[in-house]
Amino acid sequence: MAEYKLEVSTGDMEYAGTWDHIYVTLFGTEGQSERTELDNYGTDFTTGTTGTYTIDTGDSLGKLLLVKVEKDPYLSLPEDQWYCSKIVVTTPEEDVILFPCYKWVSSGELVELRGGRAMKVSEEEHPLLIEHRKKELALKKSLYQWHIDHEGIPHFTGLSDSSELPAEIRFSKSKESEIEHTALITDTELKYKGLVGSTEQWKSIDDMKDIFWYKKTTMSGRYVTEHWKEDDFYGSQFLNSVNPNVIKRCSELPPNFPVTEDMVKPFLEEDSSLEEEMEDGNIFICDKKEMDGIPARHYNGERLHVTPGLCLFYLNPEKKLMPIAIQLHQQPSEQNPIFLPSDPETDWLLAKMFFKNADLMDHQAVHHLMKTHYLAEAYTIATLRNFPVIHPIYKLLIPHFRYTLPINTDGRKTLFGPEGALSISSLGYEGLTEIQRRSLSELTYSSLCLPENITARGLESIPNFYYRDDGLKLWNIINSFVTEIVEYYYPSDCEVEEDSELQEWISEIFTHGVLGNKASGFPECFHTVEEVIKFITMVIFTVTAQHSAVNDGQFDYTSWMPNGSLLMRKPPPTTKGESSMDTILETLPNVGETASFAALAWILTEKYTDVVPLGTYPEERFDEAPPKQMIKEFQEELSNLSEEITTRNSQLKVPYTYLNPAEIENSITI
Ligand code: FE2
Repeated sequence: MAEYKLEVSTGDMEYAGTWDHIYVTLFGTEGQSERTELDNYGTDFTTGTTGTYTIDTGDSLGKLLLVKVEKDPYLSLPEDQWYCSKIVVTTPEEDVILFPCYKWVSSGELVELRGGRAMKVSEEEHPLLIEHRKKELALKKSLYQWHIDHEGIPHFTGLSDSSELPAEIRFSKSKESEIEHTALITDTELKYKGLVGSTEQWKSIDDMKDIFWYKKTTMSGRYVTEHWKEDDFYGSQFLNSVNPNVIKRCSELPPNFPVTEDMVKPFLEEDSSLEEEMEDGNIFICDKKEMDGIPARHYNGERLHVTPGLCLFYLNPEKKLMPIAIQLHQQPSEQNPIFLPSDPETDWLLAKMFFKNADLMDHQAVHHLMKTHYLAEAYTIATLRNFPVIHPIYKLLIPHFRYTLPINTDGRKTLFGPEGALSISSLGYEGLTEIQRRSLSELTYSSLCLPENITARGLESIPNFYYRDDGLKLWNIINSFVTEIVEYYYPSDCEVEEDSELQEWISEIFTHGVLGNKASGFPECFHTVEEVIKFITMVIFTVTAQHSAVNDGQFDYTSWMPNGSLLMRKPPPTTKGESSMDTILETLPNVGETASFAALAWILTEKYTDVVPLGTYPEERFDEAPPKQMIKEFQEELSNLSEEITTRNSQLKVPYTYLNPAEIENSITI
């Protein structure tokens, strides 16, 4: 008599348990067990529990291949779904094998679990498993398909509501209700104060301070409202706020930005010149030329204005990055003057605000949505379609795609769609889509790889650039972890070349993510282990650290409209000396629009309770010891970095928390 011991775990989320009958059949190289009901004395399969069961077979089944799980209704009651986390089987030979499940099981559904060591397609030998692998992928490819949302934008699932997604990748009930709850609280507070829908103009800048009573962060509540006018705070935000990927070192002025020595001399160190400062590497530039010619939306019958401007920055001897010249349009002309810090206060403020407005739209549409959310969706769909769950890269990556498809599916409606929150920005839905299209056609693989991104922008040594300091450390930690895992499963380039699933995965990302653009430098296929390591490092970095860097500071920096607004209601200044504080109030969003933007920033930066921090893997997917050990080391490295960043931040007037590993989520979930 051979006895198999099964430890069967039910998930701990709401409604995970079931009253229904659960049956298991074991398949081995030497035969299969009877279809056996798992039924102990008392209640089985309650939420968050593990039950132990035995299955007796006459002889050993040999090497265990599959565990088939079936569910039948209890009496004639309606369907009661079951979330099965995992089954651990101890064989008569004393082998302990993990069969990860992590999915909802419905009646009549065929669930066959693979267990044991991660396997690449080339390692598969048993006909039953070869067939099983093929069937699994065929099913996945029918469940997850590529659709075109807009020409020129990464392809997506094609679904219009997250409830249409397969159950195991939907939001948990608790996450869903928390998002709804936050939206409700935000809405209630704003409605109570009569802010929602109000078309009134703000009477004073200070009135905006009271938008929210409950949600205030140290940054949004005090620092930003007190310092928003200051040039060094303005400059620092191009390094450590929500869009740290746009500024670069300037060694030569673009011909269309005729800043003269005389203009900026007063702001440079005594006896220095612009030329010398450029040579010394102290001059930086941000150029919004990609926005040139994109029509803004209409507002009260008039077309709004978006400024594809240029801003020059100077790193002064106190190591502060100061804006020293702003030109709001690409072509210099009399109506397009170069604004300077010595101009009348409100002229200079308006120039900075218009430039920031363009930067924030670029941030939302390109750096936040397209480069993290949309590309993450392409990585997720490719992973779900091309890797069976037993594949090592699936086991490595799938935790980093948790909730990404549901947040994108719903975000397309509520945030980015024609009626979404961003449609009231200056560019509107059409304009933001166009900027995404332009940016994707120019996107490069190296710009998504942080070390190359920093070098290409000449920002290796600019001081107080915490996004770079923390980001590079994180890149290296993720890279070391990925290197260990990938090298363990791919000891040589040969294994990479012959892994048809891996090759199809990257090919689909190339086709559907960057739309086959060879100039992007994105890999179309992999030849070496090194190429795989770099790409997977980039994927994990993007969906964790990079998303956190561009997402998590939104309430801090953009809920106070004067510091950065997505909407400017009046045209930008074309001459100097004609503006006043009233012009600023007329230009900023009205009361209702301000409330909408601030509410959006709240919802997008709220921390929800079922957060999974970077490097935490609550779902056990690897069965063999080496990757488990690698995960432990990865977690230790992250924890050390977290301590280091916390200590550094305690010394800073404006702490940079967005890349503290303890604050970063393991995937894009909001
Ligand atoms: Fe986000």
